[in-house]
Amino acid sequence: MKKRGVAVFGSTGSIGRSALEVINHLQHEVQLVAIAAQQSVNQICAQASRYQPETIIVSDPEAAQKVKDRLGRKYQVLAGIDALVPIAADPKIDIVIMAISGTAGLNATLTALSSGKTVALATKEILVSYGEIVARTARRFQGKILPIDSELAALHQCLAGQEIKSIRRLILTASGGPFWQNGPPKNATIDSVLKHPTWKMGKKITVDSATLMNKGLEVIETVKLFGIPPDKVATVIHPESVVHALAEFVDGSILAQLSRPDMRLPIQYCLTYPRRVPSLVAPLNLTEIKSLHFFPPDTRRFPCLQLAYEALRYGATAPCVLNAANQVAVKAFLNRKIAFELIPDIIEKTLKEHMKKKKRARLSLSILQQAERRATDYALKLINLVSGE
Ligand SMILES: NC(=O)c1ccc[n+]([C@@H]2O[C@H](COP(=O)([O-])OP(=O)(O)OC[C@H]3O[C@@H](n4cnc5c(N)ncnc54)[C@H](OP(=O)(O)O)[C@@H]3O)[C@@H](O)[C@H]2O)c1
Repeated sequence: MKKRGVAVFGSTGSIGRSALEVINHLQHEVQLVAIAAQQSVNQICAQASRYQPETIIVSDPEAAQKVKDRLGRKYQVLAGIDALVPIAADPKIDIVIMAISGTAGLNATLTALSSGKTVALATKEILVSYGEIVARTARRFQGKILPIDSELAALHQCLAGQEIKSIRRLILTASGGPFWQNGPPKNATIDSVLKHPTWKMGKKITVDSATLMNKGLEVIETVKLFGIPPDKVATVIHPESVVHALAEFVDGSILAQLSRPDMRLPIQYCLTYPRRVPSLVAPLNLTEIKSLHFFPPDTRRFPCLQLAYEALRYGATAPCVLNAANQVAVKAFLNRKIAFELIPDIIEKTLKEHMKKKKRARLSLSILQQAERRATDYALKLINLVSGE
């Protein structure tokens, strides 16, 4: 069997590191061709030595120069985020694992899809903000999007071979983050927000889990990827993070996907799809787990989830605006510029401001990019007002 070429964009992050482990595990059938990161020089050099890709892309120019100096001529080292684009089109690559946080990997995603490749998409922000364009590009050029996000990967499995019209509801589970029981404390510290009970992830998504915006983003992803109306997508708090999502059908049956909370499983699912092969993840022992719990989410104490539904129902550029405002607010919290409880405030105000403007019926890449830029600027202005800068 010819090995399939894989690129891992965002290789030094939580998903990227897991992806490299899975690629190593599947080395008899996949070949790592390229890795990319922003600035983690030591880590990307170590990954190059360990996993031997041909090409390394480092988007920060200074960091790229350091990587070149350290690795010499053995590898092709490219600088800048734009360097991802030709690599995404490289015929040696069959699957692009997109795990760059935020929307910086959008052009590379669109290029891979328009080259007819498979994109194993971890980066939810791309689907939330640019889902229509991404789906349109995949359809037009026969590219394939396979979701890595565990809830979406679970739905992908539950919906295999099912007709859309037979779906009554899709249910996404949420661990609830560190505060689901008592609500977020006043002035929650960064350490307490980053203490996720079940998953080890990058900082941005861990903050999103604590506000429940992560679930809101996944609701939007679900609507955009599977073409389901927003009122057919529900969420439920499930602290054990064992059931990743459920699909309820019109006959009353529910299909669910269960596994240990370990991202190496959905990553492998994307790399071997539609086959299944033994993975690095230990099987579940249901008699050890004994019980699983489900609770309704409290949208009063976690308004971000509700804001995501509002953006989705409003449609047009609103999900892109919600995502942009959230990115800015989370960054400001992590940089100690705003308190945790101000995150939903910043998003709500940015969204309301956006909704005052004329609604765009037909979405294009440039309209969405403009909405993202404006929302980013507006949210930054609000943050500067609050932090007195
Ligand atoms: N972690 C999870 O379990 C999980 C689950 C589902 C979905 N996701 C989604 O997957 C994405 C990645 O999450 P993560 O937790 O792996 O994030 P992370 O640990 O923060 O890693 C982010 C990665 O993106 C790279 N990066 C950031 N900006 C870049 C840029 N401008 N150019 C090139 N590379 C850039 C980083 O490089 P440097 O290290 O050099 O900064 C790093 O490799 C997010 O969209 C998240 O929502 C994550």
